[in-house]
Amino acid sequence: MQHFIEKMPKAELHVHLEGTLEPELSFQLAKKNGAELAYKTPEALVAAYDFHDLPSFLNIYYAGMNVLVEEDDFYQLTFAYLTKARSQETLYAELFFDPQAHTSRGISFDTVITGIHQAQVNAEKKMGIKSQLIMCFLREMSAESAMQHLVLAKPYRNWLVGVGLDSDERNNPPVKFAEVFSEAKAMGLKLTMHCDVNQQNSLMHIKQCVSDIQVDRIDHGINSLECEVLCELIKHKKLGLTVCPVSNQFVVQSLTSDEIHKMLKKDMLVTINSDDPAYFRAYLNENLIELQKEGKFNQNQIVTLVGNAFKVAWLDNATQNDYLQQLHRYVSQHI
Ligand code: HPA
Ligand code: ZN
Repeated sequence: MQHFIEKMPKAELHVHLEGTLEPELSFQLAKKNGAELAYKTPEALVAAYDFHDLPSFLNIYYAGMNVLVEEDDFYQLTFAYLTKARSQETLYAELFFDPQAHTSRGISFDTVITGIHQAQVNAEKKMGIKSQLIMCFLREMSAESAMQHLVLAKPYRNWLVGVGLDSDERNNPPVKFAEVFSEAKAMGLKLTMHCDVNQQNSLMHIKQCVSDIQVDRIDHGINSLECEVLCELIKHKKLGLTVCPVSNQFVVQSLTSDEIHKMLKKDMLVTINSDDPAYFRAYLNENLIELQKEGKFNQNQIVTLVGNAFKVAWLDNATQNDYLQQLHRYVSQHI
């Protein structure tokens, strides 16, 4: 099963580029940029990772970003992730980035997005891994700040496939950003929002995403299972759910395999993703392998989870079908 998962053609739809910053690269960039790190070695940094809920993770995640300064830093970050993903047979990835976490430190929007974009172009050329970019707004920041960043993104419209919403969910509901998401939709961008597992008002936030914001996808969304009518609506609208098992484990002490089984039974379009793989020490393969062990998923169920990611990816039908055919060819040779 492990080998079957490792070699399977895959897609990743929920990964924060800043969450792919490996300690070794972090130390290298800190040295180059003269940035202070609180720990002496990469090993000591990892040993200090202590997450038990979303805010405790976010504190460490934002502190880590201080080493990202120049365009080439963003290039290296992105290229390293895409190299790692390709080594795990991830053929396609949709990448989140958090521009406000950088502009708030005095780094220009252009520096961030140009470094990322160049790495995407080169990774596709050199390794054949395709990727698209999703700009996330930080939900504890104001709607005005989000709108300012959407305006900043307008000259780079063609480098983006969609917008998302992440960071601290407490007291920051989806409707706070109704106007900016409506404007993004008018720009032809796809919409997604985080509804992390077991947050305050999770269910209400998912309902707002579906009915008020009219998202194209939901990030996490595990708590939708608390409402049968909502599950039916998500299924009817064919909304993908980007679940991140190892990330969830830090909050709910389980890889949420029971919940993923329930979603599969309901024919909901659930997908498996890594979220912040450098911090959670698990890329896509490790997420799938650990999940399979916990939930005893059979090969067909694993194939459904991986196939769902290609089905709900923001790609044209021809490209999507091409990936699905590659997956099915692989499966017919290995089952
Ligand atoms: N949840 C919310 N915001 C985030 C996350 C997450 O898992 N990772 C990076 N920003
Ligand atoms: Zn996330």
